[in-house]
Amino acid sequence: MSNHFIREVIVTTQSAEGHAHIAPMGVWEEDGLVTLAPFRPSRTLDNVLARGVAVVNACDDVRVFAGCLTGRHDWPLVAGATAGTVRLHDAVSHQELLLVRVDEDALRPKLRCRVAHAEAHRVFEGFNRARAAVLECAILASRLDRLPAEKIRNELAYLSIAIDKTAGAAEREAWSWLLAKIEAHLVQPDPVRPDPVQTNSVQTDQQQTDSAQAGTAADGVSGSLATDKGPEPA
Ligand SMILES: Cc1cc2nc3c(=O)[nH]c(=O)nc-3n(C[C@H](O)[C@H](O)[C@H](O)COP(=O)(O)O)c2cc1C
Repeated sequence: MSNHFIREVIVTTQSAEGHAHIAPMGVWEEDGLVTLAPFRPSRTLDNVLARGVAVVNACDDVRVFAGCLTGRHDWPLVAGATAGTVRLHDAVSHQELLLVRVDEDALRPKLRCRVAHAEAHRVFEGFNRARAAVLECAILASRLDRLPAEKIRNELAYLSIAIDKTAGAAEREAWSWLLAKIEAHLVQPDPVRPDPVQTNSVQTDQQQTDSAQAGTAADGVSGSLATDKGPEPA
């Protein structure tokens, strides 16, 4: 268990050739250095090693998190103040980082960085449950192959409560993207634990069609999940 305060941010980097890359990551501060910990293989890791710089963006638009997990990587970027950096145009604030040290690890090296420049762009509007739920859902969507279908369905049903009660249009759109990805996964046979109730796949197929047709109308999407709890635990 980590006792670090971990911030879920959007890390923006560029390759040696100048191709920008955007990835959600958890970062923390340790011994006065901001730490990034990408799992190998990682374009973020390659880019930071190639250029020695990265940008950590505090981002309150959860579509960026959900988008990166669902193939939507095209978010507006602008050049940072430090050479070789790009940042999210719509970041609430950002920190430009210089790589100071790499703590090597076969699975997940630690990139220890110094803050070279930081800027605030907008005021913090306050917490929102739906945004937190989308973040949790994005984490879920990044771990589908490691989780049993039943756990995924139960977590979605719980998270959908916050979506129903507190989401605006952007949060509903982000939720619908993640839901489409997760539902596509759930119609596959469960690789972790065989799903005994295959009749669910018929229902989920229909839900997927519904959500694709509904676009941003995620009210119905989250509502359908609240009733689709999947098989009872064995
Ligand atoms: C909220 C959130 C936090 C994440 N944190 C990390 C992280 O700390 N390290 C990591 O390797 N991937 C993390 N991921 C998953 C990556 O964003 C995703 O796997 C991405 O493709 C990383 O690989 P890349 O550097 O090649 O883009 C996170 C995803 C989400 C939604």
